[in-house]
Amino acid sequence: MQQLRLVLAMAAAVLLSLAAISSAHNITKILAKHPEFSTFNHYLTLTHLAPEINRRTTITVLAIDNAAMSDILGKNPSIYTVKNILSLHVLLDYFGAKKLHQITNGTALSATMFQATGSAPGSTGFVNITDQRGGKVGFAPEDNDGTFSSHFLKSVQEIPYNISVIQISHALPSAAAEAPTPGPAELNITGIMSAHGCKLFADTLLASEAIGTFTDNLAGGLTVFCPLDDAFKAFLPKYKNLTKSGKVSLLEYHGVPVYQSLAMLKSSNGIINTLATDGANKYDFTVQNDGEEVTLKTKIDTARITGTLIDEQPVAIYTIDKVLRPRELFKGEAETPAPAPAPEKAADAPKSSKNKKKKKAAPSPADDADADSPAESPDEDPADQAADDNGAVGFDGGRFGGLVALVVSAWLGFSLL
Ligand SMILES: *[C@@H]1O[C@H](CO)[C@@H](O)[C@H](O)[C@H]1NC(C)=O
Ligand SMILES: *[C@@H]1O[C@H](CO)[C@@H](O)[C@H](O)[C@H]1NC(C)=O
Ligand SMILES: *[C@@H]1O[C@H](CO)[C@@H](O)[C@H](O)[C@H]1NC(C)=O
Ligand SMILES: *[C@@H]1O[C@H](CO)[C@@H](O)[C@H](O)[C@H]1NC(C)=O
Ligand SMILES: *[C@@H]1O[C@H](CO)[C@@H](O)[C@H](O)[C@H]1NC(C)=O
Ligand SMILES: *[C@@H]1O[C@H](CO)[C@@H](O)[C@H](O)[C@H]1NC(C)=O
Repeated sequence: MQQLRLVLAMAAAVLLSLAAISSAHNITKILAKHPEFSTFNHYLTLTHLAPEINRRTTITVLAIDNAAMSDILGKNPSIYTVKNILSLHVLLDYFGAKKLHQITNGTALSATMFQATGSAPGSTGFVNITDQRGGKVGFAPEDNDGTFSSHFLKSVQEIPYNISVIQISHALPSAAAEAPTPGPAELNITGIMSAHGCKLFADTLLASEAIGTFTDNLAGGLTVFCPLDDAFKAFLPKYKNLTKSGKVSLLEYHGVPVYQSLAMLKSSNGIINTLATDGANKYDFTVQNDGEEVTLKTKIDTARITGTLIDEQPVAIYTIDKVLRPRELFKGEAETPAPAPAPEKAADAPKSSKNKKKKKAAPSPADDADADSPAESPDEDPADQAADDNGAVGFDGGRFGGLVALVVSAWLGFSLL
């Protein structure tokens, strides 16, 4: 017995140090110990929700067993619809078994990952948790008629206050989450960008043949980094100064022909090809992440991802605080010091001192007509700084928490009327 205790203590110490190393939780691993959740677990991976869950803290996963998952899958939903349904089962707040039974006033609303994706119309991404008679805790979508068809069954694992995994009896019924999600080919990417702070970029894209390159890649995988309006507005004189093909390349430089979720961007530093990449014209940039922040570095600018407009495989659209200027088009501009890991640096010697423009970038007579601001300051666009405050949905916990609080209070205010 004594020996067993010692072994257990040692095992605990090893586990603790492992936990310290890997810091964050791993939902796939947590659920793998419980075969009754294998289907739920499998779909968290397929829908790319697992890495999203792993990178967040103060969350609650409402796990449902294989039978409850069969009810969902029996309706033959697309993978995008399954993602919406499952993201309604991830609460952006920590509810351990104890807290569930001690909710102030006996009822609470919690925002979910479905609300956070922006795919949830109105307040359909909120879950109502209500303490009921006999110690039952009921779960229902916000817009319920007093019926709670799902109940708390048991706690699966609680890591206060990072993640609580609890089992509920049935999938939460939600017409909004179950609605057929449009396939990627029907996505109106310019509409999404226009509605969320990137109207100038979207309008410019629509007026260019580059839009075809973007829509052609929708089905196979596409990631778009759209500069916020302040940043693009400040850049417009330079844009107008480009040749016709230069303009197309500049726009295509803001698209990547593969789907990159935020979690994927956060876990990989390195060079990334763009829609403008064409043989020797590399038109690439470097993704560099530092904790929660993801930056995109060209040889000239460093832009920061400020928000997610959509992140549903195979399409992701993020807002950025600066226009990305490729070296291929802006050779004369001051180059930022190359990021530490820049393997291609050796091949391309720094060209910051040279001021000659590449032939391709020289303005054609036709374009001269609308180059309306020759007196543009050569310095960094002043509007770039202001653009920082324009992010749609901030990633950092603080900003995000603020947004959720805002949405909740707005909703509560509305419901009091
Ligand atoms: C909770 O998450 C934080 C941040 O990821 C981590 O540093 C901490 O170790 C986690 N706590 C536990 C008990 O796992
Ligand atoms: C999480 O756990 C699963 C299963 O143990 C493993 O395959 C996966 O690599 C882990 N993910 C991370 C980010 O560690
Ligand atoms: C609980 O109910 C009281 C009285 O109706 C109200 O003032 C208070 O804000 C409620 N608390 C929460 C957390 O909803
Ligand atoms: C949760 O739903 C019940 C039943 O419809 C309702 O009475 C209660 O007010 C709701 N709670 C919140 C916080 O909206
Ligand atoms: C895309 O959205 C924009 C703005 O909402 C709209 O003007 C346009 O007609 C839409 N395009 C399509 C093809 O639906
Ligand atoms: C437009 O191009 C010309 C010739 O390369 C250059 O002198 C001028 O500064 C450019 N204007 C802007 C706004 O970039």
